[in-house]
Amino acid sequence: MSITIAVHSCKGGTGKTSIALNLAGVYAASGKNVCLLDLDSKAPYLSSVFSPQSKQWVNDVLFGKCTVMDVIHDVSDEIGVSGKLYVGLSDPDIIAIRDISSKDRKWQAKALQVIMDAKRHLTSAGMDVIILDTGPGVDFSSINAVAAADYVLVVIKPNKPCLVGTGQVVNGVYKLLGKKCGIIENMCHETHFLHSLSNTLFDLPVLASIPCMCDVQLKTDLGIFTLKEPEHIFSKSMSKIADKILEQGD
Ligand SMILES: Nc1ncnc2c1ncn2[C@@H]1O[C@H](COP(=O)(O)OP(=O)(O)OP(=O)(O)O)[C@@H](O)[C@H]1O
Ligand SMILES: [Mg+2]
Repeated sequence: MSITIAVHSCKGGTGKTSIALNLAGVYAASGKNVCLLDLDSKAPYLSSVFSPQSKQWVNDVLFGKCTVMDVIHDVSDEIGVSGKLYVGLSDPDIIAIRDISSKDRKWQAKALQVIMDAKRHLTSAGMDVIILDTGPGVDFSSINAVAAADYVLVVIKPNKPCLVGTGQVVNGVYKLLGKKCGIIENMCHETHFLHSLSNTLFDLPVLASIPCMCDVQLKTDLGIFTLKEPEHIFSKSMSKIADKILEQGD
């Protein structure tokens, strides 16, 4: 059985990409076949973690120029995992970013179809877990990823604007689309975990509360933190989250 997880948040900078990347590492290290797709084409990041190996990008898939299988490449040996990790990168070139940012609603409706096709291709190719890194907020490109997912991992920072915005997106998007969801509160002060007040927020399970830790911030560019420092509290949280998603996703 395959699961597609969209990592999303209503605001930027909550830790979506860090969590998507590290979850992918945890699943691949546990022996699963994993595909991590950068669907944040307006602010791509994963091309700074993995060197591009294909001449084609996720952008080309969205434009209907090729399939997702032409774009993904295997980084398992590079990161040293027992399973498989494939990544599909978005083009970081400013021209590509401007191009995709200018697309209208009709184009985005077609892009959703393309993402659903990509999910089918990846599932048929034997992926156990497909992780979609998304952009923040509710524009079409972000909501397309959410719509294509089986599970939405909602990342919040424990501050008022993020909580108010998340409440709106939970009711106005995730619940309307009938998505299974779990919340991670990230970059918390250790003494102020919302999680300690309740195990749920907006009637959704809180999977973890992760403190704000300088080493996570400082080592962002060094690859997959969880694989480099498996005993770190951040890495332990990622493993727990990975298990809980699979339990909840069943
Ligand atoms: N628990 C944490 N403690 C400290 N720093 C963190 C933590 N989680 C993520 N960060 C850092 O916060 C910054 C933003 O993280 P990240 O890029 O993953 O967020 P994002 O939600 O993907 O942002 P965007 O909305 O721009 O795509 C990064 O520098 C990352 O290293
Ligand atoms: Mg990001």
